[in-house]
Amino acid sequence: MTHTPVWFMRQAGRSLPEYRALREGIAMLQSCRTPELVTEITLQPVRRHQVDAAILFSDIVVPLMAVGLDLDIVPGIGPVIAAPIRERADLDRLPELTREHIPDITESVRLLVAELGPTPLIGFAGAPFTLASYLIEGGPSKNHERTKALMHGDPELWHDLCARLAQISGTFLRVQAEAGASALQLFDSWAGHLSRADYLRYVEPHSRAVLSGIADLHVPRIHFGVGTGELLAPMADAGAEVIGVDYRVSLTDAVTRTGGRYAVQGNLDPALLFAPWEALERRVREIVAEGRAAPGHIFNLGHGVLPATDPQVLSRVVELVHEAGAR
Ligand code: CP3
Repeated sequence: MTHTPVWFMRQAGRSLPEYRALREGIAMLQSCRTPELVTEITLQPVRRHQVDAAILFSDIVVPLMAVGLDLDIVPGIGPVIAAPIRERADLDRLPELTREHIPDITESVRLLVAELGPTPLIGFAGAPFTLASYLIEGGPSKNHERTKALMHGDPELWHDLCARLAQISGTFLRVQAEAGASALQLFDSWAGHLSRADYLRYVEPHSRAVLSGIADLHVPRIHFGVGTGELLAPMADAGAEVIGVDYRVSLTDAVTRTGGRYAVQGNLDPALLFAPWEALERRVREIVAEGRAAPGHIFNLGHGVLPATDPQVLSRVVELVHEAGAR
């Protein structure tokens, strides 16, 4: 690479008018399982912004749907589970994922890799904790109280649920890599709600199982969460080559906290895309400069693109990263 590579979490999605046009009248999960749509939506931001990677258009709940769980993604809310998982008997509704459950994912990835040429495709999955929170709460949660109650009140059931989710996420990642994805990101979006001690005891072993289970594929692994400043070292050590950093911690601190052993990904605050260009430009240049202290840097946002973002600003940021990040 002749410059710092850049892509954006949620680069495909509601910020793009061409995405909104294509999705009209088609439910989110239906679009995720239609390879022609997945291919087109995944390619849209690559064409428009000239980002250095595509990320598969899908969702962390797609593999749960694929094993037969009754769920939906409600616009403006997120994943909603018809009958939450709260008792041992509920595990029966969550069988192991096999590649036969997701032939559409294999097809989508194959189509994409053929279309993308040299541009890498990033595959992804949800980490066990973040998935467990949706399953136990029944939908998005501010405080994760039922999740933490189950974690502490019935650790045996908690670990069995997370082990099952690790199998599902691990297989979802493996299928994407075997079809041609050239990097894999594990999203533990809500792990920042945990204390370090609880993360280490109840969550890290399961995320480690996911990451170590795909080590034989020799595909770079990115581990990302929001508000995970206190967890960066254990998250990196769980088996990643790249640690995702949200906007609350500087890349400089992230490098120190992870012992200088990992590439970093991040970490522009997505809200800054609404700031005047001069302020935004200054911050982008700072992040590119901070990233040079790491063994590798992938420029990204600290979390996903907000739907009201002006797509022209995103294109301009890509151009700037390529210029400022020239090597
Ligand atoms: O990043 C990308 O461009 C790839 C596609 C992608 C989506 N979801 C598409 C999507 C990825 C990587 C995800 C992961 C995902 N899904 C996460 C982890 C990443 C993160 O943001 O922390 C989480 C927590 C989910 C669950 C989920 N799905 C939420 C919270 C929402 C938003 C609900 C809303 O309407 O605000 C979704 C829906 C979703 N997933 C959309 C997209 C483009 C919006 C669907 C729409 O167009 O209405």
